[in-house]
Amino acid sequence: TQPKILVARAIFPETLAFLEKHFEVEHNQDDATWDKQELTRRLQGKVGAFTTGTERIDAEVLAACPELKVCANMAVGFNNFDLAAMTKAGVLGTNTPDVLTETTADFGFALLMATARRMAESEHYLRAGQWTKWRYDMFAGAEVHGSTLGILGMGRIGQGIAKRGAHGFGMNVIYHNRSRLSPELEAACKARYVGKEELLKTADHLVLVLPYSAESHHAIGAAELAQMKPTATLVNIARGGIVDDAALARALKDHRIAAAGLDVFEGEPKVHPDLLTVPNVVLTPHIASATIQTRRAMAQLAADNLVGFLVNGKPLTPLNPEVLKK
Ligand code: GLV
Ligand code: GLV
Repeated sequence: TQPKILVARAIFPETLAFLEKHFEVEHNQDDATWDKQELTRRLQGKVGAFTTGTERIDAEVLAACPELKVCANMAVGFNNFDLAAMTKAGVLGTNTPDVLTETTADFGFALLMATARRMAESEHYLRAGQWTKWRYDMFAGAEVHGSTLGILGMGRIGQGIAKRGAHGFGMNVIYHNRSRLSPELEAACKARYVGKEELLKTADHLVLVLPYSAESHHAIGAAELAQMKPTATLVNIARGGIVDDAALARALKDHRIAAAGLDVFEGEPKVHPDLLTVPNVVLTPHIASATIQTRRAMAQLAADNLVGFLVNGKPLTPLNPEVLKK
């Protein structure tokens, strides 16, 4: 008999068909949002789970699902996993790095430009029938080319954004990260390492691309926003919770920074009500990796991780490979 797995959200039919060749699959076809109790109930008897970043896998779930061996996240971020608890329980976690890097960097740049050039605000104005005449300073925004691009979190996606800024738009790129890039990578990105304070104070456009963790919680709060230029834009394509959304809404309302572009939110899919009413913000529903090709590649990599581990004993992109040695 085939191993049993759970696919916790709706997924591409071809991904499902691929998984069904190797496993007995229970699938969340109607894409209902399962609470922890329902998820735990569905996981009974399953050795693998295909998750999407919205299912929390913690010590409580693990204790209630002793047969579980692997959770394959269809996302590069994995803050829905308590990885330490998974490692302790001998459960492997996998994610989907690399396949989404360039697509997500494209979106980060798109959001930067939309924010700097006030595209959402001006489109809303046009759609609302408010455009009756031209005015010299109508929706005048911030310059992108030649400005200073600050990147907080210089992983693969951060490097992709740096390259777009440096090579495509002649931007002066500065970054801050827990560790410095090698001189070769810095040269490829034309990026200069700076302290966090210098990053906040000198960036014209600050893009957040760091993973969420206890350390990065509210990495941008009222104090950090106060250090930024009043003309600066802030872009968050990383994770909700890295920015204190209430503090950001206040800063936008008071024009302590010029504008923000946000693809991720604290407590999403709920959005802080004040962010919905301030005009100088561009809001998107966590779609930075959303192209058909990339979402297919992410789904396939998650599926390949399940087959790789459960059928061949070799996952492609393990997060806690120490589990494999046990
Ligand atoms: C999406 O946010 C991801 O982590 O892939
Ligand atoms: C994610 O892939 C990152 O390293 O930024």
